[in-house]
Amino acid sequence: MCGIVGYVGQRSALDVVMGGLRRLEYRGYDSGGVALVGDGTIMSAKKAGKLVNLDAELAARPLPHSHTGIGHTRWATHGAPNDVNAHPHLDAAERVAVVHNGIIENFAALRAELEAAGHELVSETDTETVAHLLHDELARTPDLSDAVRAVCRRLEGAFTLVICDAAQPDVVVGARRNSPLVVGRGQGENFLGSDVAAFIEYTRDAVELGQDQVVTITPDAIVVTDFFGAPAVTKEYHVDWDVSAAEKGGFEWFMLKEIDEQPQAVADTLLGRHTIDGQLQLDEMRLSDGELRDVDKVIIVAAGTSFYAGMTAKYAIEHWTRIPCEVELASEFRYRDPILDRTTLVLTISQSGETMDTLMAIRYARQQRARVLSICNTNGSTIPRESDAVIYTHAGPEVAVASTKGFLAQVVACYLLALYIAQVKGTKYGDEIATIIAELEKTPAGIQRMLDEGDQVRKLAAELAGSRSILFLGRHVGYPVALEGALKLKELAYIHAEGFAAGELKHGPIALIEEGVPVFVIVPPKARDQLQEKIVSNIQEIRARGARTIVLAEDGDMDVVPFADHLIRLPKVPTLLQPLVATVPLQIFACELAGQLGHDVDQPRNLAKSVTVE
Ligand code: F6R
Repeated sequence: MCGIVGYVGQRSALDVVMGGLRRLEYRGYDSGGVALVGDGTIMSAKKAGKLVNLDAELAARPLPHSHTGIGHTRWATHGAPNDVNAHPHLDAAERVAVVHNGIIENFAALRAELEAAGHELVSETDTETVAHLLHDELARTPDLSDAVRAVCRRLEGAFTLVICDAAQPDVVVGARRNSPLVVGRGQGENFLGSDVAAFIEYTRDAVELGQDQVVTITPDAIVVTDFFGAPAVTKEYHVDWDVSAAEKGGFEWFMLKEIDEQPQAVADTLLGRHTIDGQLQLDEMRLSDGELRDVDKVIIVAAGTSFYAGMTAKYAIEHWTRIPCEVELASEFRYRDPILDRTTLVLTISQSGETMDTLMAIRYARQQRARVLSICNTNGSTIPRESDAVIYTHAGPEVAVASTKGFLAQVVACYLLALYIAQVKGTKYGDEIATIIAELEKTPAGIQRMLDEGDQVRKLAAELAGSRSILFLGRHVGYPVALEGALKLKELAYIHAEGFAAGELKHGPIALIEEGVPVFVIVPPKARDQLQEKIVSNIQEIRARGARTIVLAEDGDMDVVPFADHLIRLPKVPTLLQPLVATVPLQIFACELAGQLGHDVDQPRNLAKSVTVE
């Protein structure tokens, strides 16, 4: 939430900062702003709404050239999304400019203290208090980095701060606690960003920052300390994707591009994770086979779409490893006093690696001595750093706010983990594992087929664009697929949508069925005859009550034909792998329908991609 950029070097700071903000806009788009350092002054511009508004403001009132600057794209927490509350925030003397991501929890007390001392604050934000505190601190200690450290020691909550100072034209200072910030190392220039997309156009060399650290960048140096000034150990890494991955590449929306990249995302997540004869090898996983053998309970913790990936994984984990598995929303987990110990494996799933609820769940689980393994798509992010072990999904950067390729890659990574545990514990024979791996290797082709057959879904989206409510039914692993289909539609098209376990229909939801209401039904493969038969009955029940049925069923399943108003064929795959193909038409449907309604598919209202506040 909120995108932050900082730059010092030889280029136009405005160009670098605005370019970075454009690539970070998915993190929040309530307002945008920049501050540049020039000739002993701060020059700034900010505007409510998306970055196009800031572009217009900068065109109307251009800022002078500068080599040092910071920028911000906001997801509002404290204060309405208007021009005044937009970042950067300046102190009264306009010496420092501050941009911030997170929530400063003790800001009311700090604000009261500042006002009592005669400061006049103009915005409703927590951020502005930092600018005023820095003003006072710089009166005592002229060095910006020292002043930032002193102020950080007084702040509670989660924050990334990036600051520039009119009196120190070649310096930008950043600080982080519980909120993301990475450093980009250039030649004669350095960068700060909420994530590497901010500076990927200029460098792929990044420096990971730890908790409670302050970083000072100048054109030639990167200095990292803790909040007390002690030098800090940092980790450097090379980003394995380039700027083209962070751009639309001819697609109308990032989401369409990311849906289209799914065969590759799945193939890349499988790549190198097994031998030619189907033996799992998860080299980067930092848990020993002995530790995994001891695991007697798995608790999956995640949010949103990642939670649905976890719901899907539960079926595979229990089936393949025979270890009991629970799935829990990250925002609920630590508030219910869960029973954890050394033999509990807490499996967290996060595309961004920065979701605050998930991060807090990890900290709680580790305090309770459970082992934490994370599935994550973002190298250098906080969640893998704070986990005992990590398995990266190799989906590439996901820019659209609604997760698509991230989801499929997460399901695959969870399955790899489940198979690895089965291999270590001996709950599956080697040849059984090899067969499942072979099936997994075929799924990119199945996903590609769903993409190639996307036109029927596009037509359907046009027909159903006027719907008030759309329902999704599934059983077994089709249930999380139904939930994910409904979530995509809600968040993109702003249409009421619900996903249900089909067996629950008669316990209440069937009352929602009325003439013409569209209902997507995900039918399990015929190999699961009991489930398949039951859901065919469910389809008949809702159709008899007037529902318009859109049935997703595997090739050759003729039982559904008489009851399907629309039939979407799925390739024949084993039951547990069906979500990897069945989710794709639901993603296309939501994306197309939102486009038909004229919505911004990549930046749906009220949302942000990384939810870095609780
Ligand atoms: C929905 C969506 C969100 C995220 C959720 C968790 O399309 O993208 O529901 O899945 O905010 O985010 P991560 O996976 O980054 O922890």
